[in-house]
Amino acid sequence: MQKTTAAITAIGGYVPEDKLTNADLEKLVDTNDEWIKSRTGIDERRILKGEGKATSDLVVPAVKALCEKRGIDPNEIDCLIVATITPDMFFPSTANVSCDKLGIKNAWGFDILAACSGFLYGLTTGAALIESGRYKKVVVVGADKMSSIVDYTDRTTCILFGDGAGAVLLEPNHEGYGVLDSILKSDGSGGKYLYMKAGGSLMPSSAETVANKEHFIFQDGQPVFKFAVTGMADVSYELIERNNLTADDIAWLVPHQANKRIIDATARRMGLPDEKVLMNIQRYGNTTAATIPLCLWDFQDKMKKGDNIVLAAFGGGFTWGATWVKWFMG
Ligand code: UT7
Repeated sequence: MQKTTAAITAIGGYVPEDKLTNADLEKLVDTNDEWIKSRTGIDERRILKGEGKATSDLVVPAVKALCEKRGIDPNEIDCLIVATITPDMFFPSTANVSCDKLGIKNAWGFDILAACSGFLYGLTTGAALIESGRYKKVVVVGADKMSSIVDYTDRTTCILFGDGAGAVLLEPNHEGYGVLDSILKSDGSGGKYLYMKAGGSLMPSSAETVANKEHFIFQDGQPVFKFAVTGMADVSYELIERNNLTADDIAWLVPHQANKRIIDATARRMGLPDEKVLMNIQRYGNTTAATIPLCLWDFQDKMKKGDNIVLAAFGGGFTWGATWVKWFMG
């Protein structure tokens, strides 16, 4: 019997109904559709509206959809990992809150904070739990309610982000399918370019931090762009090279959806043609930890059993990485 790998056996996704279009943003800040489209590739984003709605309200429908697809009861899940930078609260974790809302009684779970790379960090962690042989059903969710930390008077960030969640179910496989390799990286010296200043132990919330708008995302876009282009492209190339794969062997690149220009650069570095690059940034914007699983969810009908898929991300931290998946479904 081959060694145990973690196969993705079901996917679920959820985006809220409400849309925020480029035309809507033109009414809020000094921007225009042409600038947003040409600089980012984004047409519209989804926004979770309503009093009392939080990230767990994105997680729950995504996990429910996944369970329905696989024909399992949520109670069969052993562990739920939620990657997010917009947890319902600092604690308890959004994983704990979501388990309660889903009626899951037999699982443990935790949140992972790695910004836009959170899903890949979670997927690698979840795969290791499956490979250990101790767990049979691990769900990894990437979910963010970015609208809760976006300053809709800041044109440099408010045009970028949207809300959503995507979830995958990992189960043991003995035929060589699933998560086969991952290279994950981090560099804390990049923290100063993309962060939320207040609300943590360094600068607890106060009337002053609220007045200074320090509970919103700050991004210095150009350095992040520069690091993202080289970081995501280099790590993806390193991953395929160390596994003796060539561009011809790769069926799909599923990149973090932050900026179409960063995605194009990554594809070029890997020698991949546009048709192999999956993109839905135009419809959802940057949903942070949710972009990669939402892309898998959107395009799952394209994928065939045995396809080599590279997932790649870059984000706040800095955090970045790439993961090789041999597709099991389809
Ligand atoms: O997912 C986490 C990781 N994040 C990323 O990967 C994002 C990386 N960064 C980016 O994607 C890009 O830097 C942005 C899309 C955020 C910005 O694009 P850019 O090509 O780097 O633009 P810029 O910041 O250099 O700004 C160019 C010009 C500036 O005007 P001046 O100084 O040339 O007169 C900006 O003030 O565009 C102006 N500008 C805007 N104009 C219209 C900035 N934001 C806007 C806007 N609408 N929304």
